[in-house]
Amino acid sequence: MDENQILQQLEKHKFYHIIQLTENLSTPGDPVAVPIQDVPLRALRTLDIKDKRVLDIGCRDGLFCFEAEKLGAKEVIGIDNDLSMAAIEFLIPFFNSTVKMYQLNLLDLKPETFGMFDVILFPGVLYHLRYPFWSLKLIKDVLQEGGKIIIETAVYMDDNQKAMLFCPIGSESPYEPTSCTFFNLKGLMDTLLSLDFVVEDIELLHNNIDLLSLAPEGITYSITQPIKHWIDRATFICSKQPSIEQPRVMDYWNSTHDVHTTQKL
Ligand SMILES: C[S@@+](CC[C@H](N)C(=O)[O-])C[C@H]1O[C@@H](n2cnc3c(N)ncnc32)[C@H](O)[C@@H]1O
Repeated sequence: MDENQILQQLEKHKFYHIIQLTENLSTPGDPVAVPIQDVPLRALRTLDIKDKRVLDIGCRDGLFCFEAEKLGAKEVIGIDNDLSMAAIEFLIPFFNSTVKMYQLNLLDLKPETFGMFDVILFPGVLYHLRYPFWSLKLIKDVLQEGGKIIIETAVYMDDNQKAMLFCPIGSESPYEPTSCTFFNLKGLMDTLLSLDFVVEDIELLHNNIDLLSLAPEGITYSITQPIKHWIDRATFICSKQPSIEQPRVMDYWNSTHDVHTTQKL
């Protein structure tokens, strides 16, 4: 494809990601999102992706899918419930890529859909979800034990004394009304732990404090450093470990308990 043909394609489609196409041309995505995307992109490059099955949830134009492919993934699947035609009609053929993208709502994702994954990428979506806990549970169910997940999301910065979820609607959202789920760091770390995701690394976009000093020895963290921004962005690298929570509690949380009918103690 020569430069003029590429320019025609760029005119034809709407882009969110800025993706390098040739030495001189990139897709005209949103530059404001680039510093936010750079943190999970760097996190992705620290993982051993070679020969792994990778799932990118909320993949949009495929910035993270194409990076995973470049890093040697065996298979990359991207899902989005509002699929990018720019990716399907232009980017995948342009790169001669083996990335597969599907229009699929995360809430409909099951292990039977695509099987299990070694690595899951989940940047820029969690804070848009009205059903965050169940969404994370569905994600856990398609990640292999020992598998890695990168979660990037907006977080509510407070003193982290309690595990909190700020869930504004309408104009109370610090972003815009589709952004309705802002865990504080303790809230997200504890939620992840309760889903067998052990947090291995955290990077904040703005408040660079030593977060790993907070990490599990138990589930008590305290952040005493001054907080400059009340909403920040955090990238978590986690691995899925054998179940940590008590099965009876998990059953109750998942509404699969039967203590009353079986009279079990
Ligand atoms: C802010 S964009 C982030 C895109 C990309 N992950 C990134 O970090 O640059 C959020 C994307 O998630 C998708 N999305 C939102 N809710 C979803 C859901 N329930 N299932 C699948 N995709 C979803 C949106 O359509 C959108 O493309």
